[in-house]
Amino acid sequence: MNELGRRVLVTAGSNGLGFAIAKRLAADGAQVVICGRNQSALNQAVVELQNSTACKGAHGIVADLGSRSEVDMLFDRAIELMDGVDCLVVNSGHMPYGTIETLSDADWDDSYEMLLMSAVRLSRAAAKQMKASSQGGDIVFVTSAGVHEATSHLLLSNVMRAGIAVVAKHLADVLSNSGVRVNVVAPGYFDTGRVRNRIDALMREQRLDRQGATEQIASANPSGRIGTADELSELVAFVVGSRARYLNGTTIVIDGGSGRLVT
Ligand SMILES: NC(=O)c1ccc[n+]([C@@H]2O[C@H](COP(=O)([O-])OP(=O)(O)OC[C@H]3O[C@@H](n4cnc5c(N)ncnc54)[C@H](OP(=O)(O)O)[C@@H]3O)[C@@H](O)[C@H]2O)c1
Repeated sequence: MNELGRRVLVTAGSNGLGFAIAKRLAADGAQVVICGRNQSALNQAVVELQNSTACKGAHGIVADLGSRSEVDMLFDRAIELMDGVDCLVVNSGHMPYGTIETLSDADWDDSYEMLLMSAVRLSRAAAKQMKASSQGGDIVFVTSAGVHEATSHLLLSNVMRAGIAVVAKHLADVLSNSGVRVNVVAPGYFDTGRVRNRIDALMREQRLDRQGATEQIASANPSGRIGTADELSELVAFVVGSRARYLNGTTIVIDGGSGRLVT
């Protein structure tokens, strides 16, 4: 469908990649609902979205993706506020780093709820609503390039996101012919609070200055730099846009060329 006036829900959208995506879709003339746990961060993000002249309206809902009842409330509220959802962007928060030896059962349970089950519940509700609408819709999951090249410290993220990739493929199959497309965008390293925390950790652990720590991460990438959130949001805008109408059931990795897997 036409991007103008689209009703978009972006989860974990008050900061970082989620916010960049919300902003990019708002600039295309969408109405946007975002969520996060922190009210003041949400308020700030909503004001910025509303400042985009093309934006047809922006709302923030406090909701923790780790809570089933809050995920359900979020979707219902987004439907109420926009009278429907044409585009769902499932973005999320972070999981603790750790290995099979260090992660506890509670870490596994929390990740299952926050990453995998929130994605299942939101996409199931959106699929039902979009299928019933004559306009179809788009669902995109923001996961991680680690799904394809598992890095040891991101075990929880990689396991849950591999599950999301399967859910996405399944949904794309069952929704084919209903005008609903389902895709996955899998980022490598992008410049957000998360990566800035990683840089801080490197500075502490390896006694590097900020430039040295940043260069260490950037130099691991063939492009010699970390991606920007705007570069990621451009891809998402394309994937959910009308120019990509034959794109379905696909995972697109965006990592500046760092992945070694030939797909
Ligand atoms: N940046 C990267 O390089 C990169 C690469 C691959 C994958 N990813 C993944 O992409 C996602 C976003 O990363 P980012 O770098 O943009 O992070 P970020 O800058 O830290 O932003 C995270 C956003 O998620 C919200 N959030 C966190 N936990 C939440 C929860 N339980 N419920 C609802 N909202 C929550 C935060 O708001 P509140 O704190 O107020 O809740 C914030 O708006 C993460 O899942 C990350 O693993 C990022």
